[in-house]
Amino acid sequence: MKRLILAAALLAGFSFVAGAMANEKGEYLARAGDCVACHSVPGGRAFAGGLKMASPVGTLYTTNITPDPETGIGSYTLEDFDRSIRRGIARDGHRLYPAMPYPSYAKLTGSDIADLYDYFMHDVPAVRQANRANEIPPFLSPRWPLAVWNVVYTPSPGFTPDPSKDAQWNRGAYLVEGLGHCGACHSPRGTAWQEKSLDARDSSFLAGANLDDWYAPSLRANQATGLGSWSQGEIAEFLKTGHNRHAVAYGSMGDVINNSTPYLTDSDLAAIAAFLASLPATEAETAWVEDTSTAQALLSGKTDTAGAALYVSACQTCHRANGAAAPPYVPPLAGNPTVLDKDPASLINIVLNGSWPLVAKGRPDAYRMPQFREQLKDRQIAEVVSFIRGAWGNKAGAVSPQEVAALRKSTQPSSDNIVVLKMR
Ligand code: HEC
Ligand code: HEC
Ligand code: HEC
Repeated sequence: MKRLILAAALLAGFSFVAGAMANEKGEYLARAGDCVACHSVPGGRAFAGGLKMASPVGTLYTTNITPDPETGIGSYTLEDFDRSIRRGIARDGHRLYPAMPYPSYAKLTGSDIADLYDYFMHDVPAVRQANRANEIPPFLSPRWPLAVWNVVYTPSPGFTPDPSKDAQWNRGAYLVEGLGHCGACHSPRGTAWQEKSLDARDSSFLAGANLDDWYAPSLRANQATGLGSWSQGEIAEFLKTGHNRHAVAYGSMGDVINNSTPYLTDSDLAAIAAFLASLPATEAETAWVEDTSTAQALLSGKTDTAGAALYVSACQTCHRANGAAAPPYVPPLAGNPTVLDKDPASLINIVLNGSWPLVAKGRPDAYRMPQFREQLKDRQIAEVVSFIRGAWGNKAGAVSPQEVAALRKSTQPSSDNIVVLKMR
């Protein structure tokens, strides 16, 4: 009898371990793909959908991808699941809008698709929650043009390693181009809203882009506005913790930190860093060099512009007179690539609206950037942002009050209401 109990316990133990192993791989892939950030709403159940997304044709709502058979994807076979993730075709045959990043997910291998499927079918709790109808004007709503879009802009499924590169580079490419869908935010788009390129072969890949009022900077080796001055270790540290000595994650990159990259293994993060570091610069820029005259002027009370005076009263306590702040928690503004970018959208946006909480792997940050929407007028925000873009050796163009006014209208103050979800 005792032996029987022991055998049963062993068997149960074994099947538990085997099950946990299969699901862990799928869960890891779902983390790397950040499915939860789009397919959930703050305060809602994981993967039950309902997140509002802007698109060029109108407002979309993400769908329920829990295994509920009626309102979710419980009736999807592996083949149905594969077609929706890698080709953008739902089970009933309708084409998905590319707000779902299937042009990137097309790179997934069949075996990763099978692990993801296993995870979604067996480990994600089913939630009965009907999908919300999209708000798209009738003349734009027929999905058939998407069939043409799909054929033109979605690569055929699978990943072809580059034989001239090593295994680490290819792993990094697979994660960045595929599951990580980094290009969905960081790559410029063409006239049909397609990403201009989906992989490292083209120099527009990850060359920087504006999406939803945030500018996601170039991840190429540009010296001032890209990652040219970051070591591979610093890139990996940023993705693991949301900080390093150059910058702190904010805006839509906060979603990536809160739900995705900190969950990756150190070896996958090193692979991503090695891949990104290999992307050649697209602009011949000189590296940022500190100019100490700004700090000297500020410390001796010489504030000869409205922007400098505003900086002293509103920003200096945290970001310091020398703009070097207190990394890795309070980011430097001196030499920071997002401060130096041609497109000031992220800068204006964070000064207007502040940052939302960063919760890397469940650990919330103690510090946040406050919002100045109520305290400062458009003109003042333009002045202070123009000041930081020209201080300490920074050499970026001035910002106009009109640019601030436009962003004030299209954005909202950041709130504590963010998607940080336990996936089981
Ligand atoms: C950037 C946001 C985003 C991310 C990330 C994302 N999705 Fe989606 N997904 C969407 C949107 C939006 C739709 C609905 C598109 C439509 O209605 O045409 C969708 C649709 C789907 C569908 C079709 C379901 C149906 O019946 O409508 C499946 C399956 C799906 N996603 C699975 C996933 C998985 C698995 C991941 C992670 C590997 C993922 N998604 C990541 C935005 C996203
Ligand atoms: C939802 C949009 C979005 C996605 C997806 C995204 N990013 Fe970002 N990323 C941003 C934005 C916006 C910024 C600028 C704000 C900041 O610096 O945090 C940014 C900043 C960064 C930075 C800091 C750059 C700098 O100069 O300060 C790195 C590194 C980065 N992203 C890497 C990645 C990688 C790698 C991926 C894919 C795994 C990725 N991002 C996916 C939006 C995104
Ligand atoms: C109370 C302290 C505090 C004050 C005051 C403050 N900041 Fe910040 N700021 C932060 C912190 C902390 C972050 C990083 C937080 C995050 O991204 O979640 C940050 C981030 C930023 C960033 C994004 C840089 C990056 O790489 O993350 C910019 C730009 C910025 N602040 C500009 C300003 C300006 C301009 C002012 C004055 C109008 C100001 N800050 C006032 C604390 C402060």
